[in-house]
Amino acid sequence: MEQNIALEQPISPASSAQAEAPAATKKVFMKTYGCQMNVYDSQLMTDALAADGYRLTDNMEEADLVLLNTCHIREKAAEKVYSELGRIRKLKEEKAANGQELLIGVTGCVAQAEGQEIIRRAPAVDLVVGPQSYHRLPSVVKRARSGEKVVETEYAIEDKFEHLPQPEKAAVRHRGVTAFLTVQEGCDKFCTFCVVPYTRGAEISRPVSQILAEAERLAEAGVREVTLLGQNVNAWHGEGPDGKEWGLGELLFRLAEMPGLARLRYTTSHPRDMTDSLIAAHRDLPQLMPYLHLPVQAGSDRILKAMNRRHTAADYLRLIERIRKARPDIAMSGDFIVGFPGETDEDFEETMRIVREVNYAQAFSFKYSPRPGTPGAAMDNHVEEHVKDERLQRLQALLNEQQQAFATSRVGLEMDVLIEKPGRLPGQVVGRSPWLQAVVIDSELGDIGDIVRVRIAKAGPHSLLAESAGMASS
Ligand code: SAH
Ligand code: SF4
Ligand code: F3S
Repeated sequence: MEQNIALEQPISPASSAQAEAPAATKKVFMKTYGCQMNVYDSQLMTDALAADGYRLTDNMEEADLVLLNTCHIREKAAEKVYSELGRIRKLKEEKAANGQELLIGVTGCVAQAEGQEIIRRAPAVDLVVGPQSYHRLPSVVKRARSGEKVVETEYAIEDKFEHLPQPEKAAVRHRGVTAFLTVQEGCDKFCTFCVVPYTRGAEISRPVSQILAEAERLAEAGVREVTLLGQNVNAWHGEGPDGKEWGLGELLFRLAEMPGLARLRYTTSHPRDMTDSLIAAHRDLPQLMPYLHLPVQAGSDRILKAMNRRHTAADYLRLIERIRKARPDIAMSGDFIVGFPGETDEDFEETMRIVREVNYAQAFSFKYSPRPGTPGAAMDNHVEEHVKDERLQRLQALLNEQQQAFATSRVGLEMDVLIEKPGRLPGQVVGRSPWLQAVVIDSELGDIGDIVRVRIAKAGPHSLLAESAGMASS
């Protein structure tokens, strides 16, 4: 399930592919790493370049421009970029030998964090553009074409969203019946392990009018489910049309009135910003899906303090109790870090304890990775690698058990499934349960974009199988 905010695996370029483009003369290949925010941004860049005659290709060999939209969250994620750049350089040399030009660009969080350093380490790179400057991409590409090496990582003063072209309706439709919508960017929380406040800058909320206009465009193009995105999405705030200060809760109430949008989700949220109105939205809005990604990172108060999370384990548990009271069928998802500097065996047991108490339907867990420039990296009590490995293994075993138990608990239940795409086998389609699980169903039951009611017959390791979905296994 790709709801992870920090995938280190690239997301297939086909997922952001675009439908019939206008008379295109040039081709761009894009590879997206990291969180959903990057997936959304890759689409923004595709749209910006489409207006300039670039068409998306999923074959790197035929590209005139390769863009790597990168992630800096852990060391492994950042290093992947350099090994990929090595491979692309070879292609660039081969093309040059045939008299063809290939421009190489790095965007995203590594671009923002390392800037000029990328070109020093990988001189084949022609352009480096940070997340605040994507509206300048077409002009940057033009400059690069004329032989300049361009690094654009200044935080823009203008609103990038206002300067980006809107995608064609056909392009939106081609991307599917679910869509991301960025409402908030950046982070002011400064957890001591995290690079995001440095790569994405200060917290900014997009204005209500912009968000509603984009949601309306998505709905008109046939999108049924919108996931609001932000590094700290529940810190979103803005002035409502009623002149009052709105939080994410009020925004969700408004979006729930929009014709066509049947399902709403949001990610990623911080426990400190779960306001009463947001909890009320979970209680009152059937459109708001009963699934919440609410990372806690660790279960020990000492470690939470060292991480600067600004809440205790008990605060988090109390919060979940309130949310479950408001929406009893809500499924919880979380992120965990093991081996933060100073984490003892007892601290780690507290993480295991909080996991047992919450009982997660889904979770992501990582070994702590020191990030340059963050306070955590400068701490002097780092945990040995083999200890991190052992802890991660134990934690993941427990989380896997809980995830499987959650999937199994769906068997026999009736639920609404939003059909998203054809299945692997003929006669099948795949949709999502309210809890973000893939559900394989009989294609006779409905078309892509329909919401159909099915009963679950079986829970496989990666998907649920609905009754009458054929004899094929999931
Ligand atoms: N804004 C989100 C998280 C964004 S990063 C939040 O506050 O929850 C996604 C996840 O990556 C984090 O939740 C954390 O679990 C993990 N992560 C971030 N920095 C990390 C680091 N230095 N080492 C290991 N994991 C990290
Ligand atoms: Fe990173 Fe913390 Fe901000 Fe999340 S809240 S993006 S973990 S600094
Ligand atoms: Fe990675 Fe940047 Fe997202 S560091 S997780 S791509 S905000």
